[in-house]
Amino acid sequence: MNAPRSLQDVQFKPRRIGHGNFFVSDLERSMEYYENVFGLQVVFREPGIGAGFLSNGNSHHDIGLIELPKQTLIGRDGQVQVPVDKKRKPGLNHIGLEMESEAHLVAAYERAVAAGAPVHRTVDHTIAYSVYMFDPDGYYLEFYADSQDDWRVIMEEKSEQLLTGNWTPDPSVASDVPKYVVETERRTVEGAPLQPHRAARASLFVKDLATSIEFYTDIVGMTLVAGSVHEGYAVFAGTVGSWDLGLFQTDDGKPTPRMHHFGFELSGPIELETVVERLREAGARVEGQIVHATKQSVCVRDPDGILFEFYFQQSRDAAELRNLPEEPAFLV
Ligand SMILES: [Fe+2]
Repeated sequence: MNAPRSLQDVQFKPRRIGHGNFFVSDLERSMEYYENVFGLQVVFREPGIGAGFLSNGNSHHDIGLIELPKQTLIGRDGQVQVPVDKKRKPGLNHIGLEMESEAHLVAAYERAVAAGAPVHRTVDHTIAYSVYMFDPDGYYLEFYADSQDDWRVIMEEKSEQLLTGNWTPDPSVASDVPKYVVETERRTVEGAPLQPHRAARASLFVKDLATSIEFYTDIVGMTLVAGSVHEGYAVFAGTVGSWDLGLFQTDDGKPTPRMHHFGFELSGPIELETVVERLREAGARVEGQIVHATKQSVCVRDPDGILFEFYFQQSRDAAELRNLPEEPAFLV
């Protein structure tokens, strides 16, 4: 048994946000939309749990979608994967945070357990090992370490099978070899209005920013790169350095967890007007556009109304961010 540790020592230190996982009301409708409008390739399906996964090559999935379950979803070892919850609505299920290696994940897991951090469960997803945890607002975080040399081969072999089973973290067998994708072979969907580069950002409302900053600094181990309690927002980066997480103090009394939007980075500048026109032609609900010296972006809802931002960021200067006129949630 490990000696007790302090929460400040937990420090998972993920590299970046790797994916977002969402509950949707109609899986097939959403899969078709995310592919043909958002420009993400369908890479895997798990019919046994009503799930589908899309990627453009940065990782085994940028997006995971699960149809709102009518009954408890069971994984490959008979493990409860998603308990049924009749009150659940379409929206964020969890945020996937990519770890350096299995050994990093297991060591952080052991520190978390020793410090009494709120670890929820550990699983083997066949392509990755994962440790799940709820943050102070109830956002569900997945720290995962890829475990395969080529996820595409595994996904082909396991096509339509259940991927998720039990996993007991074991430092004596945990590999310290990084398995995440280094050379991105970016694949796009021909004809889609958007061609995102990677899943890049989650923007979340929190009820007590000071508590959240402490949690994301001490336990998650991300770096506060902009904002403060006084300013009402906080931006965090993983070890890669990209600004992956935006937290915003709520002052409207509405409950959390409540995601504002999930962001995708574009690989370069876009002809914004043309993209918006094509999105509208495809039946997409375009919520707004941002054109600023630091950023160009378009905000679009999915078929369930979940908000996504697709952006190209020219600059990440905190002083400029504070001077932007748009709604705070879009500052990062
Ligand atoms: Fe996930």
